[in-house]
Amino acid sequence: MTEVLTEPTPAHDAKRGAERPGSGRPMISAERIKRRVRELGREISDVYADIDTPLVMVVILKGATVFAADLLRSLSIPAELEFVRPTRHKSGAKKGGRLRLAHMVAGSLVGRHVLLVSDIVDSGITVNTVARRIGRLGPASLRMATLLDRKAHREVEVPIDFYGFAIPDRFVIGYGIDYAGLYRELPDLHSLK
Ligand code: IMP
Ligand code: MG
Repeated sequence: MTEVLTEPTPAHDAKRGAERPGSGRPMISAERIKRRVRELGREISDVYADIDTPLVMVVILKGATVFAADLLRSLSIPAELEFVRPTRHKSGAKKGGRLRLAHMVAGSLVGRHVLLVSDIVDSGITVNTVARRIGRLGPASLRMATLLDRKAHREVEVPIDFYGFAIPDRFVIGYGIDYAGLYRELPDLHSLK
């Protein structure tokens, strides 16, 4: 006799997801994100169509990893990947503490065209700090792409060249973006109430 494999029933899944953030209606669906990221990929590929070295995507860990992986596959130009890892130093009197980079790009950026890739620009301090550090490494050009742009608490001006969505003043999770290290695996973007 053939064995019958059983799968969790929809009712079981619904119950399990009931208290879980991300089980409700998404703020931005995976389908919408996919379409927008494809458009961004085309836009970015157009802007860099004539460069004579591969683009260097510098991804800001950890939140931008999922976005960057999709964006990378939407490009029709050659691109390399580098990473930076900002961490908050909880010593300063200021809200989040001082920002330092626990990991800096591994390869040389001298004469290279660099695209900084972030998950969400809020106060602007993270991308601003990273951009200043990257700028000192002698790139031929430096542009910024962010999945989400939330202008409500901007403290420093940030020249964003490419953004996926402008969002209202809500904390978001999913699609790589976390709350206390969790919920990065959610395919949609949700606002956390
Ligand atoms: P900023 O330095 O104030 O611009 O904040 C940017 C960083 O804070 C992002 O790269 C995220 O890691 C984190 N962040 C800001 N807003 C949110 C949010 O709504 N959800 C999750 N992380 C956020
Ligand atoms: Mg975070």
